[in-house]
Amino acid sequence: MYKAKAYSAASETAPLVSTTISRREVTEHDVQIQILFCGICHSDLHQVRNEWKEVMPTVYPCVPGHEIVGRVVKTGSAVTKFKPGDLAAVGCMVDSDGTCPECEAGLEQFCPNMTLTYNSRDKHLGGVTYGGYSDSIVVNERFVLRVPENLDLAGAAPLLCAGITTYSPMRHWGVTKGKKVGVVGLGGLGHMAVKFAHTLGAHTVVFTTSPGKKEDALRLGADEVVISRDANAMAKHTGSFDFILDAVAAEHDINAYINLLRRDGNITMVGAPSKPLPVSVFALIFGRRSFSGSPIGGIAETQEMLDFCGRHNITADVEVIPIQKVNEAYDRLLRSDVKYRFSIDMASLKAE
Ligand SMILES: NC(=O)c1ccc[n+]([C@@H]2O[C@H](COP(=O)([O-])OP(=O)(O)OC[C@H]3O[C@@H](n4cnc5c(N)ncnc54)[C@H](OP(=O)(O)O)[C@@H]3O)[C@@H](O)[C@H]2O)c1
Ligand SMILES: [Zn+2]
Ligand SMILES: [Zn+2]
Repeated sequence: MYKAKAYSAASETAPLVSTTISRREVTEHDVQIQILFCGICHSDLHQVRNEWKEVMPTVYPCVPGHEIVGRVVKTGSAVTKFKPGDLAAVGCMVDSDGTCPECEAGLEQFCPNMTLTYNSRDKHLGGVTYGGYSDSIVVNERFVLRVPENLDLAGAAPLLCAGITTYSPMRHWGVTKGKKVGVVGLGGLGHMAVKFAHTLGAHTVVFTTSPGKKEDALRLGADEVVISRDANAMAKHTGSFDFILDAVAAEHDINAYINLLRRDGNITMVGAPSKPLPVSVFALIFGRRSFSGSPIGGIAETQEMLDFCGRHNITADVEVIPIQKVNEAYDRLLRSDVKYRFSIDMASLKAE
């Protein structure tokens, strides 16, 4: 074991503070990464504050962070994919059994024995896994991704969650040229969804509660922007969408969006509000519409997404912050006051 610097929360009401954690020495198949940037996902905030306690209670102390990019500093004897000095990235998962039907299908995100990057049982050290708000992490090479060299690293970090979480359902539901696609909520996930839908050639419509984001939405690739609190503007789109991706982190009226789907249209939730949403079954029946959800994406698809971003030079729009500003950043995230993702510069941990 060795010591790493990190930021952790001691309880659901405590702020994140500087701490020291243990990381395992590399075993045969492990890669040790010096973390350069880590994005701040709204899921970090949900979990630090134990807002998902009914589904996945938080174990404290909690070191969040699952949008990690860095440089390889050490590799285990059997590692073939990486060598010291390589760029590397880690997303929301760090392990799975590798043998179940989901793993065999390359869909590790559904593996019943999958290990999340933080707040999962740590099979090596006991206790729970600790995430990327740290200067170092050790991960099995199967769960370490390659980062295209042309991408800005601070902006590449959020691809590891916000990127794959929006890319995967768009690929699954066939977003392509000729389709009309909606994106609900222009936050960290939503702004990546707009970039992907636009690059995949779809007619892209953004639904936002923030009129001030309209110009940005158009710049990011939207063809149209609808202020979702304007019922008349919403009604103009009734029955017209092939696919809608909903990336809202709070309670909201989902039926207003189901009614915008055409026959056989689908709305997929990636946003994860802690309370259940009431769904109008009649809105689904009339139109044979479907309502579904989607978690992150498998490792192969995450690499495919990173390579796609490399080819199209896609990264997140980030505000880079030192780790000392993380608590302020959480408060701003709750007010939708970030364009459009915070990325923590881990060099700032040296001052701790
Ligand atoms: N499924 C998965 O695998 C997965 C992965 C990552 C994250 N998530 C979840 O996805 C959600 C979004 O994450 P994020 O990091 O993108 O968060 P975020 O940056 O805070 O963005 C959420 C956006 O939702 C909109 N919004 C916020 N409150 C709202 C309200 N009360 N009513 C309507 N709209 C509201 C805002 O957009 P406007 O200002 O444009 O309205 C806001 O920018 C979170 O719940 C997160 O936990 C899920
Ligand atoms: Zn996330
Ligand atoms: Zn498995």
